[in-house]
Amino acid sequence: MKTSEIRREFLAFFEENGHNRAPSSSLVPGNDPSLLFTNAGMVQFKDIFLGLEDLGFSRATTSQRCVRAGGKHNDLDNVGYTARHHTFFEMLGNFSFGEYFKREAIEFAWILLTERFALAPEKLWITVFEDDTEAADIWLQHIGVDPNRLSRCGEKDNFWMMGDTGPCGPCSEIFYDHGPEIAGGPPGTAEEDGDRYVEIWNLVFMQYERDVTGKLTPIPKPSVDTGMGLERMAAVLQGVHNNYDIDLFRGLIDAIRQVVPATDPEITSLRVLADHIRSCAFLIMDGVTPSNEGRGYVLRRIIRRALRHGNKLGTIEPFFYRLVGALEDQMGEAIP
Ligand code: SER
Repeated sequence: MKTSEIRREFLAFFEENGHNRAPSSSLVPGNDPSLLFTNAGMVQFKDIFLGLEDLGFSRATTSQRCVRAGGKHNDLDNVGYTARHHTFFEMLGNFSFGEYFKREAIEFAWILLTERFALAPEKLWITVFEDDTEAADIWLQHIGVDPNRLSRCGEKDNFWMMGDTGPCGPCSEIFYDHGPEIAGGPPGTAEEDGDRYVEIWNLVFMQYERDVTGKLTPIPKPSVDTGMGLERMAAVLQGVHNNYDIDLFRGLIDAIRQVVPATDPEITSLRVLADHIRSCAFLIMDGVTPSNEGRGYVLRRIIRRALRHGNKLGTIEPFFYRLVGALEDQMGEAIP
C-alpha cells in the first residue's frame, strides 16, 4: 500500500464509524504559547478536551502534520540514526470528545489493524499503564490478546502529556515486531530502544488536566486521543524495516542522490537531509522563519544540522545552485 493509500484508508475507516474528518492544523499552534510546535494530532483539540470549546461534533479523525524538534517531545538528535524517528511526520488520529472511551478505542484500533490492514496478531505487542487494569482487561479478556504479548509500564512510557501543562492521561501503545533479524527487545525490557519493536499507535485515555505545579484535575468528560505514525505504518505495510525505505522517502532520497553522489556508508546523512528538508519546508510554509529565538531558532538548528550533513557529503554548492535555479524558474527572472 502506498503511504497515500494508508492515509486514505485510515480516515475512511473512522469516517465510516461516525467520525468527522477535520483538516490538519498549522505546525504553529494557534494561541498556545505553552507549545513550540504542533507535536500531536490532539493539539488542535486541546480546548475541546478541557471543556472550554464545543465543535458541534464529538468524534473526529485527522492526518496531522507534526514537528518534534525542540520542546517536550524532541527527536532531533535521533534522526538519521534510528529507523523510526523524524523531525517532521504525519500523525493519523481518531478522537472522542466525551463520547466513547477505552473499550471502543481499543476495538477500533484492533479491527483496523488486524482486519482492514490484515496484520497478524502475533506481530503486535501491547503496553498499558501499570495502574490501568481496565485497559489491560479489555485487551486480554475482550479482545483476547496473548498475555505474553502485553506489558505493563510506568509513567515514563504509558502516561501521555502534550507538554508540561494541559490535557493528559494513561495510554496504551501498540507495537509492531519487525522480526528477530532486527536488533531490539519488547517494550519494558532493557533492549526496547532498538528498532525491532516499533510503536505504531498510541491510544491515550484523556482524563486529566495538568497544571504548572503538576497537579492533575479530572477533565469534564473522559475522552480519547489516538496517534498512529503514518511513516511507521507505511514501513510495516510496505514490508520494509526502516521508515526511510518507504515510497515517500525513496523518492526524496533518489532526488537528493541526483545532486549528491553519496555512497552507502553515507546513508545516514542522506536520511537526515530527506527528513530535514520536509520539516524545513512545512515549517516555512506555516510561517516560521529562521531567527535566533523560539520557533525560528529551532528551524535554524534544523537547517544547520542539514547543512552539516550536506557538507559531510561535500556537495552543498551544487545543491544551493539547484535551489536558486528552482526559485528563479518560479519567479521567471534571475536572482542578482
Ligand atoms: N497524543 C498521543 C501521542 O502523540 C496520541 O495521539 O502519542
